Amino acid sequence: MLTASITLFLIVAGALVTSNDAGLSVPDWPTTFGSIYKMPHMVGGVRYEHGHRMVAEFVGLLTIVLAVWTWRRERRRWMRILGVAALGTVITQGILGGLTVIFFLPAPISSAHAAVAQTFFCIAVCIAMFTGKSFVEEAPPVEFDQRKPSLFTLTLLSIFVLYVQLILGAMFRHKGMSWWPHVVNAVVVAFILSWTALRAVTRFGHIAEVRKPALGVIGLMIGQLFLGFMAFLTRVAWGKEAAQPELPMVASTVAHVAVGSLLLATTVVLAIQVWRHVPAAVEERVRTGERSLAT
Ligand code: HEM
Ligand code: HEM
Repeated sequence: MLTASITLFLIVAGALVTSNDAGLSVPDWPTTFGSIYKMPHMVGGVRYEHGHRMVAEFVGLLTIVLAVWTWRRERRRWMRILGVAALGTVITQGILGGLTVIFFLPAPISSAHAAVAQTFFCIAVCIAMFTGKSFVEEAPPVEFDQRKPSLFTLTLLSIFVLYVQLILGAMFRHKGMSWWPHVVNAVVVAFILSWTALRAVTRFGHIAEVRKPALGVIGLMIGQLFLGFMAFLTRVAWGKEAAQPELPMVASTVAHVAVGSLLLATTVVLAIQVWRHVPAAVEERVRTGERSLAT
C-alpha cells in the first residue's frame, strides 16, 4: 500500500514536470548536471525535474524491497512472478524517463513513459490487493454471470478503451497529435465504463467487492470528464496565448493525469473482483476447454 500510494504521488510529481514544461531543466541523465551525488540548486524547473527523479528513485528502492520480500516470503508462485514483473516495469520506466531527456522529449517516448507510469501504478495496487487479508484468507462465494457479453468481458473492454484514451491523451499532451481523437474517444470511454459499472451495480450490487469499485469507476469517470473539460479550456481554448504555464492550466492538467491513473487502477480492481466473485469467464473458459477437448 505504501508503494502504491507513493507511486500516485510520483505520478503527480511527473505530471508537474510536463505541465510546467520542465522536462529539460536537468539536461543530462543518469547524471544531474554532471554529478550523481551532488544536489542541484532546486530552483525553477529543476525543482520539478530533479524532485521527480528523487521520488522515482525512492519508488525504485521500495520496489526492490517489495520484489525481494515477495520472492522470499510468498508461497504463491504467480505472486513472486508479479513482484519481479513490478521490478522490471519500474526499471523500464526509469530508462524511458532517461531516454526522453537524452533525446529532447520526443512525443512517442514521453507518451510511453506516461503509459508505463500508470501500468506500474496498477501493478502496485494489484500487489496491495493480492496481499490483503480478505484476498489471502477468504474463499469467496461464487455466482455465475449468464449474460452476454459477460461482466468480465465488459471490464476487459473498459481497460482496453482506457488504455487507448491514455495513449491518445499522452500523445496530445506531448505534442505528437491533435486533441480531437482523445476527445472523440472520451465518448466511447464514457459509454463503455457506464455500461460496465451500471451492470455491475444493478446485477451484482449485493457483492460489496464488486459494488465498491464499480461505484468508484462511476464517480472517478464523472470527475475525469469534468477535469478533461477544464484541461481543454485552460490548455487548448484559453492557453494558446500564454507565455508560460499558468496555475489553472497546471492544476487542471495535473489533476486530470492523477484522476486518470486512479480511474484505470479502479477499473483493473473491478475486473479482478468480477473474475473472482462472478466467474462467468471461468465458466466460459471451461466450456471453451470442453469444446477444444471434444474436437
Ligand atoms: C518509477 C519511475 C517513474 C515514474 C512512475 C514516472 C512517472 C512520470 C509521469 C506520470 C510523468 C508525466 C507524464 C505526463 O504527464 O504525460 C513523468 C514525466 C517525466 N519523467 Fe518520469 N517517472 C519515473 C521515472 C523517471 C526517471 C528516472 C526520469 C529520469 C530522468 C524521469 C523523467 C521524466 C521527465 C523528463 C518527464 C517529463 C516528460 C515530458 O514533459 O515530455 N522519470 N514521469
Ligand atoms: C473518462 C474520460 C477521460 C480519460 C480517462 C482521460 C484521460 C487522460 C489522460 C490519462 C491524459 C494524460 C495522459 C498523460 O499522462 O500524458 C489526458 C490528457 C488530456 N485530456 Fe483527457 N481523459 C478523458 C476525457 C477527456 C475529455 C472529455 C477532455 C476534453 C473535453 C479531455 C481533455 C484532455 C486534454 C486537453 C489533455 C491534455 C492536457 C495537456 O495538454 O496537458 N480528456 N486525458
